[in-house]
Amino acid sequence: MATGTGRLRRARCLIVYWKGTRVVFHNFARRLSISARPITWNVLHFFDKWRTLPEVIAHFESYTPASVRASISQLVKQGLLVEKGSPQGVRDDRISAQWSAWLPEGSFHFSTKDPAYTRDDWTPARLRSVLPKTAQPKIFKTVRGQKKQLPRCASPASEFPRVLMSRKTHRQFSKAPLTLEATSQLLYFTWSAIGYFQVPVFGRLLHKTSPSGGARHPGEVYVMALRVRGLARGLYYYHPGDHTLTTISTKATPFRAWRYCAHQDHAKEAAALFIMTAVFPRTMWKYQHSRAYRVVLLDAGHLCQTFCLVATWLGLAPFCTAALQDTLVENDLGIDGISESVLYVAGVGVPPV
Ligand SMILES: Cc1cc2nc3c(=O)[nH]c(=O)nc-3n(C[C@H](O)[C@H](O)[C@H](O)COP(=O)(O)O)c2cc1C
Repeated sequence: MATGTGRLRRARCLIVYWKGTRVVFHNFARRLSISARPITWNVLHFFDKWRTLPEVIAHFESYTPASVRASISQLVKQGLLVEKGSPQGVRDDRISAQWSAWLPEGSFHFSTKDPAYTRDDWTPARLRSVLPKTAQPKIFKTVRGQKKQLPRCASPASEFPRVLMSRKTHRQFSKAPLTLEATSQLLYFTWSAIGYFQVPVFGRLLHKTSPSGGARHPGEVYVMALRVRGLARGLYYYHPGDHTLTTISTKATPFRAWRYCAHQDHAKEAAALFIMTAVFPRTMWKYQHSRAYRVVLLDAGHLCQTFCLVATWLGLAPFCTAALQDTLVENDLGIDGISESVLYVAGVGVPPV
């Protein structure tokens, strides 16, 4: 036992599977995987409810108390058992309760947080050494059958196709600040409630420039202002209903932006980051099938493309990244990473001259 007096039970955020001949126990909340002997299964089964050390010793009477104690403390270390009241135990409870509708499939969300990003210099030779040795999949697929040539698509000389055709990812920016007006437009045209509609059962729902599955709009956005004229450096929450920014903290430096974005250099040159999160219960409450997790991710993609187009229209230089230090970002934003989690970051700067 970890404390000698504490109660332990099996972690609920647990997935067990075979990899080849090995049985793997994976705690997805803590991203700990171990390969263990099948007897572990029986031990964990016994820990279905909170157990004390005397109970465990009595149950496994064919083993010495010292060996039971050692095994139990190993299982705690490996994340397979949690102690009542410990931070891990509380988090395990919260994830399993709040995500119950989307588990076990939704464990993907937690399993893929905070990966160990490499900081390698990706020279072509280095890239070749880590990529599979097989040929790269073709960029077009071939579908056999009769082909019909479509009319040539000349871009009409109007604003929408011009913006659409000029969108690209930028990774270089001038030192010029973003104006408060441009920041406001980026937020308004991407994340604001541009209207509401009333529907039976669900009542008032939001209308935004991007679609959202079931109009649940789980997406939220926070701004890290690094170089915005008229806005102090800081982290802000954007309210889509009243178009306001609320200060969350002054933790906003190019170094922190770089850390948020998994040490990508261009993030520290940006004038502002737009940090996208999702409030999962909004979607989960209506859609209790784990497939709806896909919807949350798709929603974030829509918002990001809208952001890139609005930025392009404003003559700005947008980029986006999914390579994030999730927990660092979530701690700074004051969100729990369970009911609300970071998904995606878009950034912007003034293009270099
Ligand atoms: C979901 C998603 C994640 C991305 N993550 C990164 C990233 O971590 N770093 C980066 O430099 N670019 C990232 N990009 C940008 C792509 O690399 C870029 O879109 C691609 O190279 C094509 O260039 P284009 O956007 O100029 O057409 C991401 C794009 C998407 C859609």
